[in-house]
Amino acid sequence: MLLTVGPPSAVETVSLVTTPLLLLLLLLLLIFIICTRPSPPGPPFLAGLGPVLSYSRFIWTGIGTASNYYNNKYGSIVRVWINGEETIILSSSSAVYHVLRSPHYIARFGSKAGLECIGMEGRGVIFNNDVVLWKKVRTYFSKALTGPGLQMTVGICVSSTAKHLDVLQEVTDSCGHVDVLNLLRAIVVDISNRLFLRVPLNEKDLLMKIYSYFETWQTVLIKPDIFFKIGWLYNKHEKAAQELQDTMEGLLNIKRKIINESEKLDSGLDFATELIFAQELGELSADDVRQCVLEMVIAAPDTLSVSVFFMLMLLKQHPDVELKIVEEMNAVLSEKGAENIDCQSLRVLESFINESLRFHPVVDFTMRRALEDDTIDGIKITKGTNIILNTGLMHKTEFFPKPREFSLSNFEQTVPNRFFQPFGCGPRSCVGKHIAMVMMKAILVTLLSRYTVCPRQGCTLDSIRQTNNLSQQPMEDGHSLAMRFIPRPARLHPSQL
Ligand code: HEM
Ligand SMILES: *[C@@H]1O[C@H](CO)[C@@H](O)[C@H](O)[C@H]1NC(C)=O
Ligand SMILES: *[C@@H]1O[C@H](CO)[C@@H](O)[C@H](O)[C@H]1NC(C)=O
Ligand SMILES: *[C@@H]1O[C@H](CO)[C@@H](O)[C@H](O)[C@H]1NC(C)=O
Repeated sequence: MLLTVGPPSAVETVSLVTTPLLLLLLLLLLIFIICTRPSPPGPPFLAGLGPVLSYSRFIWTGIGTASNYYNNKYGSIVRVWINGEETIILSSSSAVYHVLRSPHYIARFGSKAGLECIGMEGRGVIFNNDVVLWKKVRTYFSKALTGPGLQMTVGICVSSTAKHLDVLQEVTDSCGHVDVLNLLRAIVVDISNRLFLRVPLNEKDLLMKIYSYFETWQTVLIKPDIFFKIGWLYNKHEKAAQELQDTMEGLLNIKRKIINESEKLDSGLDFATELIFAQELGELSADDVRQCVLEMVIAAPDTLSVSVFFMLMLLKQHPDVELKIVEEMNAVLSEKGAENIDCQSLRVLESFINESLRFHPVVDFTMRRALEDDTIDGIKITKGTNIILNTGLMHKTEFFPKPREFSLSNFEQTVPNRFFQPFGCGPRSCVGKHIAMVMMKAILVTLLSRYTVCPRQGCTLDSIRQTNNLSQQPMEDGHSLAMRFIPRPARLHPSQL
């Protein structure tokens, strides 16, 4: 027995030295393979801790804030994880433009339970991932938002804005302040109703429900499945989503009655009527119709009203720009009158709107999903990967002469398409992009020709609290968002003499 305890044999010495060496070599080889595979930079996996940390950041700080954090830290192509799923955040114009125009990214991502909660899972247009149904309903949206529909828009926007400004004292508090954001929402929801639904409704009540629905949307979109099983967290959101859906159902029933009772329908059917007819023909289900009308009615109050609010804030911070816009308006409108403003001839206003959408956008990013394997800027993208297009950051890092400043000089020269995408482009772009521009111009012209606004002392875009979860929004706490409306000294236009 004792004999076996002696100096190790030659064979044993070799294996004792080579085993660790071999392991080390293997490890180096592995690292080499991982490093040379063109995988995008991003936080490390750390045995599963990385995905947990990055998901937490998205949940706690909001999708927009987290995307900016990762792009600023790791560059314009970053790999992170949301709910365990690989997610690529893109902020370079070449990558963003590639995704926007490609047919391989026409789906979006989001929690299935969350989308079910807000009625968007396989329904409507905005987050519908049933590509066949999405294509079908998108044609109804396109039809209502372009062509002949666009022509009525200016008149309706001007008259809605004027109607709400005529009763401004009703929404003015004792100190002379107006809650502008809610005024703009009221104007915009009235416009949407008059264009797409045409049913008498309680504006204030509907707006409150739209607001709660949006809150729910923000909250549930990327939550883990367990969230939906915790009653005290989830129930109020489920209720908020259901309430707006029920309200829409009610409005649609009124609409069906109106259609039934009218002798013959006037030419040019509105969006809701087209959808109801499609349902009668068996093209769409009642649930499809309800969700599409809901999304058409919330689209503008959720985006456009906040955009115009930011624009009014920016205008006050840049009085020289306001002066230029008013001068242009006086020159153009004196010939034509506000009702038939020619949007093409308001160049300064359009540059101002563009620069506002670039500098302080409401929609800061877009969510997509890869439907096929692909390569973006040399990086392999596997089918099913989540994609975030960080257009907000893209607009502040490429092309523009003064990227981090608000300046009309950023639009002095023609901006090539790929560098400025506030509405996206390609098959899954904002279907309301043309009408949105027309609406913003008509609302701003009507408002600015009668009033100049004045935010509270010291209240600027930098000082108000904002969130960037699903979109960039001011926080509506306290009265910091209120503004005074000061009548603009009337200038008599030749047409009014
Ligand atoms: C300032 C106002 C607006 C901005 C900045 C805006 C921006 C956007 C953006 C960036 C997208 C996502 C595009 C993409 O994924 O590439 C989008 C989608 C959409 N927008 Fe807008 N939008 C605005 C106003 C409107 C209005 C007024 C409507 C309708 C009345 C509208 C209807 C839609 C719809 C239905 C979608 C989803 C399209 C789809 O998924 O097929 N938007 N919008
Ligand atoms: C949005 O993000 C902010 C952080 O900026 C957070 O406090 C808030 O609760 C979030 N809201 C929702 C509805 O997720
Ligand atoms: C239209 O109204 C009539 C009478 O009120 C009713 O009998 C009929 O079923 C209605 N049709 C539809 C399609 O709602
Ligand atoms: C504003 O941006 C749009 C793209 O959204 C572009 O077509 C248009 O020419 C721009 N207008 C001005 C005045 O820069």
